[in-house]
Amino acid sequence: MNVSGKVAIVTGAGSGIGAALAAGLAGQGAHVVVADLDLERTSEVAAAVGGVAVAGDASRVEILEEMIAAAEGNFGPVDLFFANAGVSGEAGIGDSDEQWQRALDINVLAHIRAARLLVPGWIERGSGYFVSTASAAGLLTQIAAGPYSVTKHAAVGFSEWLSVTYGDRGVRVSCICPMGVNTAIHHDALNGDDEVSQLGAKVVATAGSVLEPEEVAAITLAAMQDEKFLILPHPEVLEYYRRKGADYDRWLAGMRRLQREAANA
Ligand SMILES: NC(=O)c1ccc[n+]([C@@H]2O[C@H](COP(=O)([O-])OP(=O)(O)OC[C@H]3O[C@@H](n4cnc5c(N)ncnc54)[C@H](O)[C@@H]3O)[C@@H](O)[C@H]2O)c1
Repeated sequence: MNVSGKVAIVTGAGSGIGAALAAGLAGQGAHVVVADLDLERTSEVAAAVGGVAVAGDASRVEILEEMIAAAEGNFGPVDLFFANAGVSGEAGIGDSDEQWQRALDINVLAHIRAARLLVPGWIERGSGYFVSTASAAGLLTQIAAGPYSVTKHAAVGFSEWLSVTYGDRGVRVSCICPMGVNTAIHHDALNGDDEVSQLGAKVVATAGSVLEPEEVAAITLAAMQDEKFLILPHPEVLEYYRRKGADYDRWLAGMRRLQREAANA
């Protein structure tokens, strides 16, 4: 899809990959609704990209409705929705149900709630594009990060299901699955005082290059021209994924070895 002139909503666009996507979209002539938790940061990004800001929790239906209303009121019907906002969740198995619920809400249910609001209109118009920022953790599992790995697998699963179910009716779907990206989520885990989170972030940082968010945005927008489902800013993820599919037990043993080595490093 050519994004020029299209109307886009990007969640989690106050920083990192979302801010870079908003800038990239605006650079290619799209109209952008910039959505994030914090009004000041969101407004700054919106001003920089000539877009409109909506502040609030992207997993809440009323905030999603506000984003859609802002898009329609300022630019017209929504063509593209980037479900990008995300949280790393608790490290390890995730000791509290509240933390699991928070990870499920923002990493998965926010996507489902947005799609519920948008897909009927897209089917009616015969066109729409849903882009999920999942993670390589949604294909391969992230060492030490239980809620993150599980919710990112669910995000990949939901994107797949959307594409299978509505792809013949004009709904395009892409799913971005990066490894390390130089953003707050990555830094907070690497430099925080939680050793389990640090272990996970260390593995990510050494498994491949840590990309800049602008690189991820550029790769994403290029892949969207061809309407590619799986967007892999780190191409080696495809090889890891193939190895997983070819011999699951061998892959699991390799992941356990990687975890041991990182813990002893
Ligand atoms: N950085 C990485 O290494 C990496 C790798 C793979 C996938 N991702 C995914 O990329 C996406 C963007 O993260 P990032 O790396 O740019 O980090 P980031 O911390 O810079 O951006 C995440 C943004 O999401 C916002 N956010 C969090 N909860 C929200 C909510 N409930 N409602 C609205 N906004 C909310 C935050 O305020 C923040 O601005 C996330 O889904 C993340 O899981 C990141």
